[in-house]
Amino acid sequence: MFMNTVVRSTVRESITNSLKNSTELYCFEKRDVSKYFDERIDYIGLPRMYLDFKVRTFEEELLDEYLNNERGMYLYGSTGTGKTSFACILLAELMNRNKDMYKYPKFLDMRAIKYDIEQEYQQTKTIKDIIDRYTHTPLLVIDDFGVMIGTESYIQFISHIINHREQNNKRTIITSNKNLNWIGSNIDDRIASRITGLCDIIKFSGNDERLKKAKIKEIIL
Ligand SMILES: Nc1ncnc2c1ncn2[C@@H]1O[C@H](COP(=O)(O)OP(=O)(O)OP(=O)(O)O)[C@@H](O)[C@H]1O
Ligand SMILES: [Mg+2]
Repeated sequence: MFMNTVVRSTVRESITNSLKNSTELYCFEKRDVSKYFDERIDYIGLPRMYLDFKVRTFEEELLDEYLNNERGMYLYGSTGTGKTSFACILLAELMNRNKDMYKYPKFLDMRAIKYDIEQEYQQTKTIKDIIDRYTHTPLLVIDDFGVMIGTESYIQFISHIINHREQNNKRTIITSNKNLNWIGSNIDDRIASRITGLCDIIKFSGNDERLKKAKIKEIIL
């Protein structure tokens, strides 16, 4: 449907565009979009550091292919290779191209949520609210899947979300430092298997971009 339509715009531009053209903001002054932009970014839970990123050359083909199919993506590979930034670009572009379907996507940072889950698992009502947030949305990014595993509540939480999303065929983009064999042996075979039902598996290889950009000072005494 969107063949050969590589996106050159930033995450910020794609989301702004999706808001400008959305039916719900249609009657507002276009200039007011910035007000809704911040609210929407907070709602999604999107990390602001990725807002000015745009797709890199090697990701262009991947993006085109992805926008043309209905499946999710499991992006795995070593640290700093660009998995999270690519996931943010996908989310923004899907919002832009499917304005009504993906108005309210969600970004779930598994590192940050770990403590909430542990504290709130006892109070079933609150944990249900958290789980509902991530099962209901038609588009979900799960970032850093597989970090800090170990507790039963963490595994229950993520199993529930992935189960529900697989059964209901809801688009899910997952980033991880671990491959699915590792997930199968260290978290749960059934989760790994469901992910293959839900997602295309893409390996990110290359160097750590953060280290490349780091300013390293050499002090000679
Ligand atoms: N599209 C992009 N535009 C500009 N810089 C980028 C882009 N993608 C990645 N980078 C650079 O690479 C760094 C790492 O990217 P990112 O956070 O996406 O990696 P990651 O694979 O998710 O790492 P980790 O496994 O540690 O979570 C970014 O901080 C940025 O400096
Ligand atoms: Mg990441």
